Amino acid sequence: MTDFEPALSTRAADGGASDGGATQGRVAPDGATHGNATAASLAPPSFALGPLVLGGRTLATRYFLAPLAGYTHLSFRRVIRRLGGVGLATTDLVQASHLVSGTPWARKLVATHASDNPLTVQIFGGELRHLVAAARWLEDHGYEAIDINMGCPMAKLTGSGGGARLMCDGDGACRLVAEVVGAVKVPVTVKMRLGWDRSRLTAPLLAEEFEQLGVAGITIHGRTRQQGFTGGVDLDGIAQVVAAVKSIPVVGNGDVRTVADAWRMRQVTGCAAVAIGRGALLDPWIFRRLARAEAGDWQAVNATPPADEQIDFLRSHFELMAEQHGEGLATQTFRKFAAWYGARLGIPEDLEDRLRRFETCAEFAEIVSEITARHGTRQRPIPTALIRVPNGPNEHW
Ligand SMILES: Cc1cc2nc3c(=O)[nH]c(=O)nc-3n(C[C@H](O)[C@H](O)[C@H](O)COP(=O)(O)O)c2cc1C
Repeated sequence: MTDFEPALSTRAADGGASDGGATQGRVAPDGATHGNATAASLAPPSFALGPLVLGGRTLATRYFLAPLAGYTHLSFRRVIRRLGGVGLATTDLVQASHLVSGTPWARKLVATHASDNPLTVQIFGGELRHLVAAARWLEDHGYEAIDINMGCPMAKLTGSGGGARLMCDGDGACRLVAEVVGAVKVPVTVKMRLGWDRSRLTAPLLAEEFEQLGVAGITIHGRTRQQGFTGGVDLDGIAQVVAAVKSIPVVGNGDVRTVADAWRMRQVTGCAAVAIGRGALLDPWIFRRLARAEAGDWQAVNATPPADEQIDFLRSHFELMAEQHGEGLATQTFRKFAAWYGARLGIPEDLEDRLRRFETCAEFAEIVSEITARHGTRQRPIPTALIRVPNGPNEHW
């Protein structure tokens, strides 16, 4: 435990995971809940607790849902907010030109609800005029905040000059940010990576410039574009971004799966808040754990949610999805959550397998009643999503 505040020991609750794995925020070979700490090993963190003001909005917690295209749409945001502790959520990235031209899918991506609050809409695109028009459209339609994507490594974005590619062109990125900030009154934030590759770690310089241009906050995923989702998150790199700005909040991001991971990121980097993506799919209760732990309820750090709450979460998520998208699209979309949820929700392997293939609402209801009857009889503690994607973005998870 050399690189970690003693007060935030990450010794696994069951003593099974090695410290090495836990402090690196990696999956232990046995899939144990490493990174979580025993109540006794936690002490109040020394960093700022409680609400954060970002772009004029007071956010109840400093733990935000990071955008995960294809996952963090309205139904997921609504259901995870019900569990508590989410300080802010961001939509999946939306192509600016499609939003303005009214493409049905783009409009669906920005669909929201009274309970889906506070919310930021993330836009991307290589063309300045599209981004400006999208920002204005969002403001005119009552959205409260806009995030510009400068972190996505996907070729379809970077090929058009959007996403992480923007980080290679400092002048272009600054022009774009200045125009978007100048076009609207609502706060504008930027989400980016450390840089294109190790030889071009442009994030600190860009963060400094963006702050001067009026950006309200920066989210920084501690990897380069070249890394994709491989390798570990570079906390020093995030710390450099924190050091580069004067007063705007920097939100650290990457590989946070537990309370201890989040606190470690804050402790080591000095970031004002933490955005959690895949960790929220693996443990939707992570935000509540953080909020409760910071309120002094140490038991909440590792507490297993009651079985009925777990099942209710599963059912509600699908129902909200079906309500928005209809049966066909909802079943198709929901299936991919099964591999993430199975282990946390105590779903036996054969039923998780059925959840990955079900086709109708009636079939879903049948599977849920079987899960209810056999809840917790799962053999394997490792989430399938961590095993089944050797070449995917979850390589190190
Ligand atoms: C499937 C998937 C979709 C993603 N979609 C987006 C996106 O729409 N916008 C964005 O800024 N980042 C996106 N990301 C990056 C995440 O927001 C986050 O920066 C990254 O996953 C690291 O955080 P995590 O380890 O907490 O997941 C995506 C990542 C994944 C795995």
